Amino acid sequence: MSARILLVLVSCALSVVTGLVIARGGANDAEARMRVATEVIKQVRGQKDPETAIQEPPAKSNRLVIGLSMDTLKEERWQGDRDLFTAKVQAAGAEVKVQSANSNDVIQLQNVESLITQKVDALVIIPHDGAAMAKAVNLAHEAGIPVLSYDRLITGCDLDLYLTFDNVKVGELQAKFLADRIPAGGKLRLVRIYGAKTDNNAKLFKQGQDNILQPLIAAGKVEVLFEDWAEDWKPESAKKITNAAITKNGPNFDAILASNDGTAGGAIQALTEEGLAGKVIVTGQDADLAACQRIAQGTQAMTVYKPIQSIATKAAELALKLAQRKPLVARDAISNGQVDVPSVLLDIVAVTKENLRETVVKDGFRKEAEVFPSTQQ
Ligand code: GAL
Repeated sequence: MSARILLVLVSCALSVVTGLVIARGGANDAEARMRVATEVIKQVRGQKDPETAIQEPPAKSNRLVIGLSMDTLKEERWQGDRDLFTAKVQAAGAEVKVQSANSNDVIQLQNVESLITQKVDALVIIPHDGAAMAKAVNLAHEAGIPVLSYDRLITGCDLDLYLTFDNVKVGELQAKFLADRIPAGGKLRLVRIYGAKTDNNAKLFKQGQDNILQPLIAAGKVEVLFEDWAEDWKPESAKKITNAAITKNGPNFDAILASNDGTAGGAIQALTEEGLAGKVIVTGQDADLAACQRIAQGTQAMTVYKPIQSIATKAAELALKLAQRKPLVARDAISNGQVDVPSVLLDIVAVTKENLRETVVKDGFRKEAEVFPSTQQ
């Protein structure tokens, strides 16, 4: 509004209000007139008198706030996800509020409720239990907050967006690695350690493994001697499963298909106690530092590298777009049992002793000196 028009308005209003004040009998009080004048100008400019104006809640700073609700920080990778995601969002001038639930569904729901109360502009959830977090998505939607499901799928709700790696391919790469090592003319005797039953990814990894193994099992080239699910992906439950397999079969098996590096570590502990470490082929996933070191030493045979840099960066980009209600591109759609969720799938790489340097070291995900400590002396 031009100064000129403002001036005209002020003087008109001034005369009106002065008239009102006079009518109310305080005409010759200079201070009163000044207060009136200030009031008028404020009214014209829409500024309210701090004393009299109704106290509006403090305006939400324009800075976007992204809520990150995590299942756990127990596995090494999740600490990486948190730090990289936070750095990317902050680099874009926005804020991140992180809450971790220590694998407890009740706590995770409380975490989400607290982030909703703090009026985050978008929510990123890594569910402990994909089904249990449907309630969290519904609560967020009631508050008008969009939700991105990070790495693991939230099922049974009208989820906005899903970002993950090609999890079926993870399982296929793990099983293919073993299929390529079936003794000539022989049979591979296998122990299978699946992930947490609460984690939809664990089912996708198994599905990928089955895609490769089923025909080989049918052909008698692979025999599954023992299999079980590792509660909450705990290394100690993987160790128990391996101990039970050894109790049942003795040392007479060739490989352990462990679904991630944490469970591989638990299994290898049991093998070490039996003097079998390095003699039994063990798979993994995540390229944890300890796993990369085991692969360099020969006690673990492979892992699947999922570049955390790429998922954290993409998640920051997508979460900020959701927060700004901007259009975004999601080329895939994955059913979560209620809707076909717009999804973004990222690629992965199988890592063995032969390509450790060309993959995780070259990417800067792991340092040469860390993975091959012995060659540094
Ligand atoms: C899965 C994740 C894996 C693995 C596991 C244990 O959902 O995709 O990378 O680390 O959880 O946290």
